[in-house]
Amino acid sequence: MSAQILDGKAQSERIIDQIKLQVDALAAAAKRVPSLAVILVGDDPASSIYVRNKRRACERAGVGSVSHDLPASTTQAELLALIDTLNQDPDVDGILVQMPLPRQIDPETVIESIHPDKDVDGFHPYNIGRLAVRMPTLRSCTPMGVMTLLQSVHDDMRGLNALVVGASNHVGRPMGLELLMAGCTVTTANSQTRNLPVLALQADIVVVAVGKPNLVKGEWIKEGATVADVGINRLPDGRICGDVEFEVARQRAAWITPVPGGVGPMTVASLLQNTLQAHAVHTS
Ligand code: GUN
Repeated sequence: MSAQILDGKAQSERIIDQIKLQVDALAAAAKRVPSLAVILVGDDPASSIYVRNKRRACERAGVGSVSHDLPASTTQAELLALIDTLNQDPDVDGILVQMPLPRQIDPETVIESIHPDKDVDGFHPYNIGRLAVRMPTLRSCTPMGVMTLLQSVHDDMRGLNALVVGASNHVGRPMGLELLMAGCTVTTANSQTRNLPVLALQADIVVVAVGKPNLVKGEWIKEGATVADVGINRLPDGRICGDVEFEVARQRAAWITPVPGGVGPMTVASLLQNTLQAHAVHTS
């Protein structure tokens, strides 16, 4: 079997086009359009690329984006003061602080300082907690994007075995909660997990979010499984690859996301969906 490609780029473009229609309708009715504040601290090259993609997507969808590019020397107090101003600004629907942050700034303090109604990344403990009790509001963007991809090829995921490789706060943990809510039997593997190949061979759905090139071997994939690869790694020769050994895995999987062009664009689409949702709450 050779897997079909789960084309995140194409699905993301369709979602952004739909959002544009909704934003255009707001503008035509002389209503305030959604607006996202995007904060980038420092000049990490990968973060700069991700932020540029998010700002471009806002432009395409007609969503307002206000850039706050701060120097790497920014103090935590300065960043918290900016977030406080944005929390109180009625014209701002969403606040995105690109991670990672420079060492002098504690990311958890920053995430908790964003008003949960404006937390369009879905990182705030309040929003993760709501997902944990099956009352999601603003959902973490990458897991939400993966779910959109999975739902495009699985009408019903109830009873499927899902393996999440990686237990980070931003991806692995909310990913497990999303899959649990969809009725999957979920296993979350972490760096201490002993029998990863065995777990993978039992999984109908495999989501990998670790950040290690080719960590998951193609031969660990069950025949007919669906594979979502969240990893974006740059190899020494400059090529980009995921966390899954793609060429071997695609011989066994039914569906697989490419890297690039799979999960990455879906994160951006989810961010815009969240911004539109936050705007609807703020204007209701
Ligand atoms: N850094 C890597 N991915 C993300 C993301 O989805 N949101 C934010 N804020 N930072 C990131």
